[in-house]
Amino acid sequence: MTVAIRPAEGDDAAAIARVQVATWRTAYAGIFPDAYLDHLNDIRIAAGWTASIERPGHVTLVAEDGSLPREPVVGFAHAGPGEAAGEAEIFTLYVLATHQRRGLGRRLLAAMARRLAPVHARLVIRVLVENGPARAFYERLGGSAGDIRRLHVGGRPVDEIAYHWPDLPRLSATLAGAAP
Ligand SMILES: CC(C)(COP(=O)(O)OP(=O)(O)OC[C@H]1O[C@@H](n2cnc3c(N)ncnc32)[C@H](O)[C@@H]1OP(=O)(O)O)[C@@H](O)C(=O)NCCC(=O)NCCS
Repeated sequence: MTVAIRPAEGDDAAAIARVQVATWRTAYAGIFPDAYLDHLNDIRIAAGWTASIERPGHVTLVAEDGSLPREPVVGFAHAGPGEAAGEAEIFTLYVLATHQRRGLGRRLLAAMARRLAPVHARLVIRVLVENGPARAFYERLGGSAGDIRRLHVGGRPVDEIAYHWPDLPRLSATLAGAAP
């Protein structure tokens, strides 16, 4: 498997939406209501990605598996300025279930940190409290657990927890070996 990581282009919106919907359905089954996951709409989500990819100050990266010429995008990440001054936030980081535990999440985070570190001092990522695998991933990569806040998704309350990296250039340097 040869996977390359590159900046997303406008044409990638549909592929990103496909990965997002597929990953939500596997990662959030039993967390979000079934009806909510069943009714996710790829086309509407893709329209949102078209705007996000072009948004100034934001970065969207895709991971492409060269052995899958028809649907090569198998992961993506999206980041931009966070809520606090000097802070970047990774809003989404998803790898298809078929491609997890092969180092792609680490590579996407490394590539993102490399791009964000010249502009932002710190990094935050928010993840559902119930998303144990993703929390293990962020803890493995040195994130410190912080505040918890409540959201409502599909009418159900869910809590998300922040993971902080207070020194983004240091994270970038630490992960440099994993960056493309
Ligand atoms: C979380 C996610 C991005 C991690 O990506 P990945 O490519 O599977 O992770 P990597 O292979 O780079 O893992 C790096 C390390 O993190 C830890 N880790 C990753 N997944 C883990 C899991 N499910 N359980 C425990 N530890 C895990 C391990 O230490 C791993 O190293 P190892 O495989 O050598 O033991 C991916 O699993 C995913 O997309 N999950 C579904 C969507 C999601 O929850 N996204 C995050 C929402 S904020």
